[in-house]
Amino acid sequence: MEDVLRERLAAAGQHHVLRYWDELESAQREVFMKQVSGLDFTTLRQDFECVTALPDGQGPSCSPGDLEPPLNNFLGSVSTSDPECVQTWRQRGLLQVAAGAVGVLLLAGGQGTRLGVPYPKGMCKVGLPSGKSLYQLQAEQILQLQRLTDKVHSTTCQVPWYIMTSHHTNEPTREFFAQHNYFGLQRDNVLLFEQSMLPALTFDGKLILKDKGELAMAPDGNGGLYKALDTSGMLQDMEKRGVRNVHVYCVDNVLVRVADPVFIGFCITMAADCGAKVVEKVLPNESVGVVCRVGGLNRVVEYSELSPEDTARRDPDGRLTFRAGNICNHLFHIDFLKRVVTEHLSKLPYHVAKKKVPHVDDAGKQVKPKQPNAVKLEKFVFDVFPFAERFAVLEVIRRDEFAPLKNADGAATDTPSTARRLLLSLHQRWLENAGAILRPVCSNSSDTELADPLIQCEVSPLVSYAGEGLSELVNGRELVSPFVLEPSDGAPK
Ligand code: UTP
Repeated sequence: MEDVLRERLAAAGQHHVLRYWDELESAQREVFMKQVSGLDFTTLRQDFECVTALPDGQGPSCSPGDLEPPLNNFLGSVSTSDPECVQTWRQRGLLQVAAGAVGVLLLAGGQGTRLGVPYPKGMCKVGLPSGKSLYQLQAEQILQLQRLTDKVHSTTCQVPWYIMTSHHTNEPTREFFAQHNYFGLQRDNVLLFEQSMLPALTFDGKLILKDKGELAMAPDGNGGLYKALDTSGMLQDMEKRGVRNVHVYCVDNVLVRVADPVFIGFCITMAADCGAKVVEKVLPNESVGVVCRVGGLNRVVEYSELSPEDTARRDPDGRLTFRAGNICNHLFHIDFLKRVVTEHLSKLPYHVAKKKVPHVDDAGKQVKPKQPNAVKLEKFVFDVFPFAERFAVLEVIRRDEFAPLKNADGAATDTPSTARRLLLSLHQRWLENAGAILRPVCSNSSDTELADPLIQCEVSPLVSYAGEGLSELVNGRELVSPFVLEPSDGAPK
């Protein structure tokens, strides 16, 4: 067995990973052998060569003229559409939820290296008055959506929550949910499954030792979802439960509307097999990927792939032509997911992410590199867009629905502080529109608090899913910051 492995490694030019073999205990050797023998070196080499042949490991850049914006008749906007139309979308969405046809799928396998917390990002609290974590905020939205639907349709509906984790995030996520009693959700409606891992490679394609008897591995990107849906049996679970539409979203948008009935109803109205929620890109140099068409096929084109002409191009009304900013918020019809899994899996390309990967050096010492020293191969969730037959795009209002959490405090954007402020400011607008009188925090504020708004009033998702139903609770009421409107505060349970 050991000899076979040695030969395979030598043939693949990867025998250096055995350089500490003699120092390993027999149990360590067994684990290491298992890890290495699970790798397909030929495919790994091909994937590495294919992706590193591209400039910067990204997709080919697009020349002016290649690109078109999304098709107008598959485009909707919550801000410019007739409010009655938005209401109709919402009702259609709720009807789907009532029928048990909606599932939610959270992408929570990322390592969150930029944020740098030693636990899964979903467990993060961004310093809200309630102290809630991202997982809790999302779980409570699902509970509230079920209640709203039951009230309107006299049902007892369930929205299953599929959570894709990875080797790093699975156990802590599982424990966190168990510890918090699944935040009130039915335990068998919270389904965790794991995505695959791939080895990190040096810039010349060599495997990296994380430890003397362990390879450095990383999850295969959020596009690893499709393979994982198949291998984990979750796609079959969806079918068994009668799920027809799956809302897929990333863990780190603090303002995400989980299973948003407006988005679901919009996609159903468009008879879409695949939908993307987007926010308007306002500045040409914002580094956000945009949803558009290339050669007639829908795609997300990264900021770096856009030509300077397309980046700056504007419509007659002055808005950027390529403004459909992708926020990793999608709706997939189950038949589309099945098609992706059975027909298109091998067509999904890899992208390269350059990362700092800790490793043991030639002297056997642990090194934490300051500069990127490795590439990770990743698939992206949106790379299935070209396979859609009816692709719909819904533009939503950024300040209402998008507050990304990517970086640690101290960075210029997308930090716990920026996300917290965006949530507090949205809830302030909801409460003021409902007639509440909001009082600021009584504090001389220390330096760290200075940046926060003085009004700090939070609305529990268990009270309101998206700002609805608040006036009967708060109209004319004085709320002194910091304040959290919870069901125990007179709101319906
Ligand atoms: P990001 O691309 O922001 O990556 O993920 P990340 O791992 O969270 O953070 P960095 O880049 O290391 O700082 C966007 C979404 O995709 C999920 C993340 O959990 C997040 O919800 N994701 C990412 C996965 O589920 N699996 C992956 O392999 C990568």
